[in-house]
Amino acid sequence: MIVAGGPLLIAIDGPAASGKGTLARLIAAHYDLPHLDTGLTYRAVAQAMLAAGLDLDNAGAALAAAEAIDLAALDRSALSAHAVGEAASRVAVHPAVRRILVEKQRGFAAQPGGSVLDGRDIGTVVCPDAPVKFYVTASPEVRARRRHDEILHNGGTAQFDTILADVIRRDARDMGRADSPLRPAADAHLLDTSAMTIEAAFRAARSIIDQARV
Ligand code: C5P
Repeated sequence: MIVAGGPLLIAIDGPAASGKGTLARLIAAHYDLPHLDTGLTYRAVAQAMLAAGLDLDNAGAALAAAEAIDLAALDRSALSAHAVGEAASRVAVHPAVRRILVEKQRGFAAQPGGSVLDGRDIGTVVCPDAPVKFYVTASPEVRARRRHDEILHNGGTAQFDTILADVIRRDARDMGRADSPLRPAADAHLLDTSAMTIEAAFRAARSIIDQARV
């Protein structure tokens, strides 16, 4: 329950291509809240390391890259490549990287009027006290199909089977890591978008948020 006039902090988690990013943007626009896609922070670390030719398994170099991340300078289009997402899930296993990025993300979340954050560990680690949490999911096949369509739509080429294998491997890495694995918070509302349009998911989310506000 959100106390009248208290911050409307909304935590959204889920695997790659589940629809959580789109849902987060719709919710932020509807309630006029600032939004942080925390995946971009891990992507920015990965991209800085790739650009510098650094080994993604090098925890010290990844920590230095994480310290240099400026939330205000994250550029979605420059970080959107499929390969950057893959690299991001490799740097995201380093606890020191997570500690630095989580600190920056909590700074963003602490806005007086509230905010929307989406990622993998928002409801469990970054904002465990968020009054409204969603866990958005969909089958690996549906998520791979979305990612594949998106790549083709943007003029790229990709094999569906390769994308599906990437989705499954990324899930295993994100759900299986020791520090902050991807999992639903105990008090998260589950939204399975496998057979649900984004509009229907948004309607369901809005009704949950409106009921939580007093
Ligand atoms: O959501 P997105 O695909 O941009 O995230 C890229 C990767 O960053 C994820 O696969 C995950 O490994 C990592 N990540 C994370 N914690 C978050 C957000 C993203 O570990 N809160």
